[in-house]
Amino acid sequence: MNENRIRTITEEDYLKIMQELVLYRGYATLADISRSLNVRRQSVRDEINHLISLKMVEKIERGKYRLTQSGDREANKFLRKHRTAEILLARCIGIPWERVDEEAMGIEHGMTEEIIQRTIESFGIRTCPHGNPIPDQNGEVEQTNDVRISSLPDRSYARISRIVYETDSILHFLATNGLLPGKDIMVESAKDVIRVTMAGRRIEIPPDIGMAIRVFPVKEPENE
Ligand SMILES: [Fe+2]
Repeated sequence: MNENRIRTITEEDYLKIMQELVLYRGYATLADISRSLNVRRQSVRDEINHLISLKMVEKIERGKYRLTQSGDREANKFLRKHRTAEILLARCIGIPWERVDEEAMGIEHGMTEEIIQRTIESFGIRTCPHGNPIPDQNGEVEQTNDVRISSLPDRSYARISRIVYETDSILHFLATNGLLPGKDIMVESAKDVIRVTMAGRRIEIPPDIGMAIRVFPVKEPENE
């Protein structure tokens, strides 16, 4: 998050970042949340305890947290607003792909259901610019069977489906290297540093960035 920007962090922001972190590494820690939201550790601890009291967050083990089913549903209701706001910003005024997540934070709380519906109908798309599905009004979301790059065998083909953890540094790296949803890659090796080829170009993806990428295995590349 841009540190120069002053804004109020809401309960919904916590739910969003927790869902992203759980998809990214399987759990959320106070340090991760504090860093991602640029909020003091003690404030994060207080908010997490509050969300635990609301039965929206649960402790997995020492220092590791995740959303409960109802927390996940609440996060999805908010992500419906966030992801449609991203579409509006990207499609209508051309905010760059790597910046729409950040910029959407400024307008997402004002997204009414009418604006959401019109946006989805106008553009006929069901995912945000980063490939993440737009949940329905009840907080239900289509499950996808995409996988982590690290689960693929060496020398296999895959199509990037979505970016599950949308931080400035991750999005910047992916945008700079053209590693966007819909792109086909050849995974040369997925051990530690991930080595891929895209359109004849070799790219090394650091493990902490590779963890944010989900792919569909494909037999043949179409747009490599
Ligand atoms: Fe997004």
